Amino acid sequence: MLNKSVIPPTDQEIEEICRIINQTLGFNYTAQKKYLIESRLNKRLLQLGIDNYQTYLARLRQDAQERDILCELLTTNVTSFFREPVQFKYLAGTLLPRFSAEKKGPKKIRCWSAGSSSGEEAYSIAITCRETLGENWDIKVLATDISVEQLKIGSLGSFPREKLASVPARWRMKYFHPDQTLDGYFRVIPELRRDVLFRVANLLDENSLPPHIRMDIIFCRNVFIYLSKAARTQILNHFHDRLHTGGYLFLGHSESIDTTADRRWLSLGKSIYKKGR
Ligand SMILES: C[S@@+](CC[C@H](N)C(=O)[O-])C[C@H]1O[C@@H](n2cnc3c(N)ncnc32)[C@H](O)[C@@H]1O
Repeated sequence: MLNKSVIPPTDQEIEEICRIINQTLGFNYTAQKKYLIESRLNKRLLQLGIDNYQTYLARLRQDAQERDILCELLTTNVTSFFREPVQFKYLAGTLLPRFSAEKKGPKKIRCWSAGSSSGEEAYSIAITCRETLGENWDIKVLATDISVEQLKIGSLGSFPREKLASVPARWRMKYFHPDQTLDGYFRVIPELRRDVLFRVANLLDENSLPPHIRMDIIFCRNVFIYLSKAARTQILNHFHDRLHTGGYLFLGHSESIDTTADRRWLSLGKSIYKKGR
């Protein structure tokens, strides 16, 4: 039976929830997030038939699956196709033509959408690579996130019509077909779906990807804004290890690397960085 209302959490209870989120995801949530936390969690407590945060916290301490659900509920998954178009223009107009001209060996590119949410970013990268490099290239985009729910949407590749508004019309026709099972939805064509690999991975856990994987380009956009300085440093070091020398890192437009302090990266503007050494 569902309870009708939840007793508001104490400051201490909010702080404990922040501690769990910060330790698991590297966030820097504080008690200032009280409103957001309550507004997102009260419904979950009601679903569980719990009317107070003390009982909920006891459950979180024992139940790893419930902690995963907590993380899903307290993260923001907003994303869109070709978000921050200026970066995609740079990718198509400058970066990929240069990459192709300088490429030695097999025509192969490996990209990573880290914190991919439901995959719109990863599909946008794959489309841009196909269109710029040509179909005879071996293109793979790894899309990772902690949210199993968002990754499910991505690997199914079915999106409502409104979401496709930011996809240029010619690519909408070429890469999406009406979803036969869901009215008003469009599905990524199988050839493009095969270019994108979805996988659960926590950016704080370097072992959540096999050690040998190396990337040419990493997109990690609109994730750093939520992270503590220590988590950002740890993840940047991990990206540095995962990138080939001369590889590229795209951050969100409000995110940056202090390249005077960290000289391993060269700023190309527009929150795009090149691994220099
Ligand atoms: C706002 S979305 C950004 C999606 C996409 N990169 C974009 O810019 O449109 C942030 C995503 O990062 C994921 N995320 C947050 N912390 C993470 C972590 N520690 N490891 C993996 N993913 C994380 C969230 O689950 C969420 O889906």
